Amino acid sequence: MQTTLTDLRVSYSDEGQGIPLLFVHGFPLSRRVWRKQIEALKPSYRAIAPDLRGFGESDTPPSTNTMAQYAEDLHALLMRLETGPVVLIGHSMGGYVAFAFLRQFPEMVKGLVLVGTRADRDTPEAAAARRAMAGKVRAEDIHVVTDAMAPRMLAYGEDHPGMVQQVHAFMNRSQSEGVIGALLGMAERPDATAMLAGISVPTLIVTGSEDALVPPAASVSMAQVIPGARLSMIPHAGHLVAFEQSDAFNRVLKDWLDRQHFTA
Ligand code: MLT
Repeated sequence: MQTTLTDLRVSYSDEGQGIPLLFVHGFPLSRRVWRKQIEALKPSYRAIAPDLRGFGESDTPPSTNTMAQYAEDLHALLMRLETGPVVLIGHSMGGYVAFAFLRQFPEMVKGLVLVGTRADRDTPEAAAARRAMAGKVRAEDIHVVTDAMAPRMLAYGEDHPGMVQQVHAFMNRSQSEGVIGALLGMAERPDATAMLAGISVPTLIVTGSEDALVPPAASVSMAQVIPGARLSMIPHAGHLVAFEQSDAFNRVLKDWLDRQHFTA
């Protein structure tokens, strides 16, 4: 489905009925990465998954895409879809967006699921590396990013070349301007660590035990500070835990959602 939010055409899927779940993909992916979660959850929940601006089939206005801007886009989409408060599920960069959303629209969040993400900001070196990568994408194309990242997304990609190919396919729909905008936006994102102790909605934190991109220790640290947070470390999984170990991930997510007894 597609809708136009002010000047931006956003692609999204919206399936099932019930408590709304908003799935926010990571970098440089698209909503398609959540397919297995949507299939598993749509019999019991309303599963909404947009392509962030610059990714998948959404429009790509050239700019630095701050996490705050993505959060505003998501809010506009939820208003358009008249969802009311959602359970916000963010993977990696989608987690950074979730923190921005929580900062800007706390009344729209009834539960939080942080997947393979972290609360701290980039070190100066990491931010500089992102800006350098943005320059390389501008000079060449997005393959400099996708070729570097796709093999590192899975723990057991070497054993499953078909899955690595699928990851490439999720990434190859991204637009160069969108990738550049996201790199620049991530480089300037604010630190969310100080927010953690004040998060008052039920929170689930999930990490792949072999995540090579965002260390599982980042999830452990968040779980120690967010009141009442539940932590699940899924074995035999890398950064793209929801895709690589989808059955285990879906069990953890559905079990946690069902136990919260969220009401509309
Ligand atoms: C992602 O998966 O969204 C990225 O690895 C996040 C990042 O580069 O910090």
